[in-house]
Amino acid sequence: MQLKLKLTVVAAIAAVAGVASAQEQVVKIGHVAPVSGAQAHYGKDNENGARMAIEELNAQGVTIGGKKIKFELQAEDDAADPKQGTAAAQKLCDSKVAGVVGHLNSGTTIPASKVYNDCGIPMVTGAATNPNLTKPGYKTTFRIIANDNALGAGLAFYAVDTLKLKTVAIIDDRTAYGQGVADVFKKTATAKGMKVVDEQFTTDKATDFMAILTAIKSKNPDAVFYGGMDPQAGPMLRQMEQLGMANVKYFGGDGVCTSEIAKLAAGAKTLANVICAEGGSSLAKMPGGTAWKAKYDAKYPNQFQVYSPYTYDATFLLVDAMKRANSVDPKVYVNELAKASFKGVTSTIAFEPNGEMKNPAITLYVYKDGKKTPL
Ligand code: ALA
Repeated sequence: MQLKLKLTVVAAIAAVAGVASAQEQVVKIGHVAPVSGAQAHYGKDNENGARMAIEELNAQGVTIGGKKIKFELQAEDDAADPKQGTAAAQKLCDSKVAGVVGHLNSGTTIPASKVYNDCGIPMVTGAATNPNLTKPGYKTTFRIIANDNALGAGLAFYAVDTLKLKTVAIIDDRTAYGQGVADVFKKTATAKGMKVVDEQFTTDKATDFMAILTAIKSKNPDAVFYGGMDPQAGPMLRQMEQLGMANVKYFGGDGVCTSEIAKLAAGAKTLANVICAEGGSSLAKMPGGTAWKAKYDAKYPNQFQVYSPYTYDATFLLVDAMKRANSVDPKVYVNELAKASFKGVTSTIAFEPNGEMKNPAITLYVYKDGKKTPL
């Protein structure tokens, strides 16, 4: 009898608590990027952008469907590895996050996009650039940055039309990203009359490129194109200097276009030969870029790389769609996400029917006195 009474009291307290919490709802947003391993600096930068957005949204106070929403970031590490990418995606599905910001690498994002589609959760990447991401036509896949068709072609046009370069050697790291961006560059450059004098391959774990660079040097190209990320590009630039390849231009996509590459090249003069392309406008030309960067730097000193303004915008973009749908249910608000016209820090974001961004910009960069500078 006494036990029954106690249970009734507990139930009554729970019911009151339920009424109170019914006014506030926790909504989880997932973020995935490599925050361990050689690419951790990119991943931390991305995660910082999403975290900053979540903190600001909670400080603003967001009400959806009559409830005050408390957003929580569930940040996962995929270590830039495709298998860990799908495992992280499944974990976020199981945690019932309302949406996902990420992933960072095309190699993880492409397989993860299927997992999110299967569990009906929208994902927005501001970093993965392989065009194949949107080919399956999943209703849950969105990209808010130019893809490699734009980056690879932009670089090829600059190499041929502006710099009048005639020959190139191409290296890629055999990842979805590296291979993809190198293929686009090759196709465009060749169509414009540039000659590919050598093609070499490496991996996203390698640090010694002496053998492939020696082979390339013997072909005497005007330029090297590297499809890959900065943990390889940095040492490669050092080794090119050691081999006396001081006058060879060095092209790369957004994976090469980081602040970190200046450190990784460790003073190699060949850093000045780098021309890289990144989706989006330069920070100075983004609608809210300069003010945003000052805020970011105050919070996360010396951590800025490339994509954090995009993960910041992606987080606000998801919440903007939830607000317009008046629902945090992924199956409901995904339709509003597809119709977005969101004024972010990076640009106004709207989508093509396949989830690619409408009218994405690209910017080419060089390194002046070791500092990444828009061309
Ligand atoms: N843009 C790079 C990729 O797609 C980071 O992997």
